[in-house]
Amino acid sequence: MGDKTLVAFATKGGATKEASEIITDVLKEKYKFTVDLVNLKKNSPNLEEYDNIVIGGGVRVGKVYDEALKFLKQDFGDRKIAFFVCSGDAGDPNKYEEACMKYITNVLANYPNVKTVATEAFGGRMKMLWKTVLDNFDQAKIRAWAEKLGSKLT
Ligand SMILES: Cc1cc2nc3c(=O)[nH]c(=O)nc-3n(C[C@H](O)[C@H](O)[C@H](O)COP(=O)(O)O)c2cc1C
Repeated sequence: MGDKTLVAFATKGGATKEASEIITDVLKEKYKFTVDLVNLKKNSPNLEEYDNIVIGGGVRVGKVYDEALKFLKQDFGDRKIAFFVCSGDAGDPNKYEEACMKYITNVLANYPNVKTVATEAFGGRMKMLWKTVLDNFDQAKIRAWAEKLGSKLT
């Protein structure tokens, strides 16, 4: 096995893309992995090329974005998988545990073939009429998670 890693994300507002970029940068800089960053709305990456897969999805109206869920349906073989979400609730300490249950534990229960080495729920950002009404996106938390993640991948 090598260190070829796919970071695949589904975003609407951009937070999950930004989180994916941070994770990609850490895996490249700290671990010297070869990383492809792919927007699942634009491309369908071929799993064959990768040893590790990091999947990220945003959350709206109580649901992780469809592109991320669809991607989880695949047979990942013995590849190392990590899964994260960006959710406004996950960035609120009072709602974090519930968000992890709803958007990670309950979601992954639908994909028993997906065995993850790491999962996490990060905060997000929300704009209404071009005004930011929520911003609990925590770059430092994402960076810290990615720094630990690298050692769990091949
Ligand atoms: C219309 C709308 C609905 C949302 N619904 C939820 C929700 O049900 N639960 C939640 O935790 N966050 C919710 N959020 C906040 C999003 O999780 C946040 O905007 C996050 O950044 C989404 O990821 P993205 O920016 O990559 O699209 C909602 C945001 C919008 C704009």
